[in-house]
Amino acid sequence: MICSNLEIKDGVLFFGGRSTVELANKYGTPIYVMDEKTVRKNCRTYLDAMRKYFGENAKPFYASKACSFKKIYNIVGSEGMGVDVVSVGEIYTAKVAGYDMKNVCFHSNSKNDYDIEFAIDNGVGCFVVDNIEELEAIDNFAAQKGIKQKILFRITPGIDTHTYEAVNTGKVDSKFGFPIETGAAMEITKIALTKKNIDLAGFHCHVGSQLFDSDVFVRSAEIMLKFIADVKNTLGYEAKELDLGGGYGVRYTEKDPVLNIEENIKQVAEYVKKLCKELNINEPAISMEPGRSIVADAGITLYKVGNVKRIEGYKNYVAIDGGMGDNPRYALYESEYTVVAADKSDEECNFTCDLVGRFCESGDIIQPSIKLPESVKRGDIIAVLTTGAYNYSMASNYNRIPKLPVIMVNGEEDYVAVKGETLEDIIRNDM
Ligand code: LLP
Repeated sequence: MICSNLEIKDGVLFFGGRSTVELANKYGTPIYVMDEKTVRKNCRTYLDAMRKYFGENAKPFYASKACSFKKIYNIVGSEGMGVDVVSVGEIYTAKVAGYDMKNVCFHSNSKNDYDIEFAIDNGVGCFVVDNIEELEAIDNFAAQKGIKQKILFRITPGIDTHTYEAVNTGKVDSKFGFPIETGAAMEITKIALTKKNIDLAGFHCHVGSQLFDSDVFVRSAEIMLKFIADVKNTLGYEAKELDLGGGYGVRYTEKDPVLNIEENIKQVAEYVKKLCKELNINEPAISMEPGRSIVADAGITLYKVGNVKRIEGYKNYVAIDGGMGDNPRYALYESEYTVVAADKSDEECNFTCDLVGRFCESGDIIQPSIKLPESVKRGDIIAVLTTGAYNYSMASNYNRIPKLPVIMVNGEEDYVAVKGETLEDIIRNDM
């Protein structure tokens, strides 16, 4: 199977050591199921590799946009990860979960005054600053509060990662950050050094997501370290920190390569050390911001089949009790997924069909042209694999359909980490 937390026993799919059929019967469908052990294992891969190869000052920050709810902050926090947030909603969730705000790094390319004041009032450790208006607003609020706010600048290294457009963020014309090529990155650094309430710790970049290119982090490290050296020579300022962003890819299907993250980090670290010597700069403390690779394979979604429609001479549909409201990724990016008939996992799959949702539009497809057993029928349990990242966090209430619960499994235990929404929740804010 595509991930090591999946196995088949007597025709039933097991996830994180638990029977998916039992979970579906106990909690109903549709549900997200997340495996706590896999989240922890993924955190440790980064923590161990980064400390081993970059040294004790290195730190991974979990990019919580991938999946954000209180329990996730508890889990990654207890492993020693920092977290990256992009909104007051994520800051608030982390804070209520008891997460240490010093280890929070606040992103977003458009923070308004409320966001900035809220983050400062809540003691957010670091801002990743995207534009000059934001720099000035932070400087003003920090002055009012009598503090010096630590920041990094988001720099656009000018790398095209050739993934799908929505996640390709490192190109010169990106909406994110200050490009090096145009001189904007150097200019803003010069300005920041004159601000009394700004503590510029260094620079940040993030070039894309679902990346398998083994040299992508090496390429961004090269551009960023050369920029750091240039800043040192031009302004006499030497960056203490360099954040290389997130982006490592995960396996959605058997076609996706297996990425050895530890090995990749080792290569990046060797390169960083070598280049720093050549450039005559101190090695900055390196951070990274994995999101998808922390939670994607720690999640699956369980549905029940509602109907099977055979349109003779055309195509077949299997419609489930969820869809684009809980997983919009095919509709948005034509993302691939592996689909399993969870209660018939040992049957041969010869029935070609589109797996479609219950939402009122034709684009509500979870996965086209998949193969399921011929016997598939109403009531069967369908598992969509690798849904732990950017599914719950991108869910909507389209068609006034309540959001799904998140059930956490942990070896022998299972528990509700997020309650499913009720009809009452759906009308809660209606006047
Ligand atoms: N850091 C920054 C600044 C980011 O913008 C992102 C993702 C990450 C870290 C984490 O990247 P990851 O390790 O998860 O690839 N909704 C899309 C993905 C959007 C990614 C946005 N930024 C999807 O479902 O594929």
